[in-house]
Amino acid sequence: MSDRTLLLAGNWKMNHDHLEAISSVQKLAWALEDAKLEEGSCEVVVIPPYTDIRSVQTLVQGDKLWLKYGAQDVSQHEPGAHTGEIAASFLSRLGCAYVVIGHSERRADNHETNEIVAAKIRAALSADLTPILCVGESLEQRQERTHIDFTLGQLEESLAGFGADELDGLVIAYEPVWAIGTGETATAADAAEMAAAIRARLVERYGDATAASTRILYGGSVKTDNVSEIVASADVDGALVGGASLSGPDFAALCKAAVAK
Ligand code: PGA
Repeated sequence: MSDRTLLLAGNWKMNHDHLEAISSVQKLAWALEDAKLEEGSCEVVVIPPYTDIRSVQTLVQGDKLWLKYGAQDVSQHEPGAHTGEIAASFLSRLGCAYVVIGHSERRADNHETNEIVAAKIRAALSADLTPILCVGESLEQRQERTHIDFTLGQLEESLAGFGADELDGLVIAYEPVWAIGTGETATAADAAEMAAAIRARLVERYGDATAASTRILYGGSVKTDNVSEIVASADVDGALVGGASLSGPDFAALCKAAVAK
């Protein structure tokens, strides 16, 4: 059993305005309490749209909630003339702990390359945000059995130029594109196979200590009834959850099931 803390992160994507966010986080906090989940048993993170973050911060600080929050993306640039962008330093001023980088929806919709992903990771680290780096193959790549090479290639290119000392505490989310929002879930064995391959590559590139401190999540149609099987694998340290994180009580039930694995 590893000493990595189980991480359950809810990626809301473009759902919930700031008023809905307040209600969702309140209900999540109550449901976590009812489920007797306490700080230390796991880490629970919500990842709302940018426009909700200030409201979530006020609630988390005001009610001294133990859950954490983060952002779904970040600019690779320093503050300046970049219309529509959000700097990493702004997110850390808002108390964000995490930032999702390289989600497949951004890679597809916004043409984010591994090079851009690497620049965003650098920006996040310089503002003391923990990146949740997303990698994962398409259905075609899985059918061709090139999924491991492809995913490890994304990993290597997204982390190009970083030293082991910079990556301590990194989070990697393995999210097969074909399993996102489709109701199709990779089997626990598929998730375990990829997580083990990712950790082995981290050992090769960065050494045992960095690899051991990296948490590897699985994402793609994770639900209350499949999470415990998925996080039971030694190398899977939690889940990045989309649809099933939108309702506070449902997400709390999922967290409880994960902790009880
Ligand atoms: P899903 O999304 O749980 O709705 O499949 C996961 C994700 O994209 O992070």
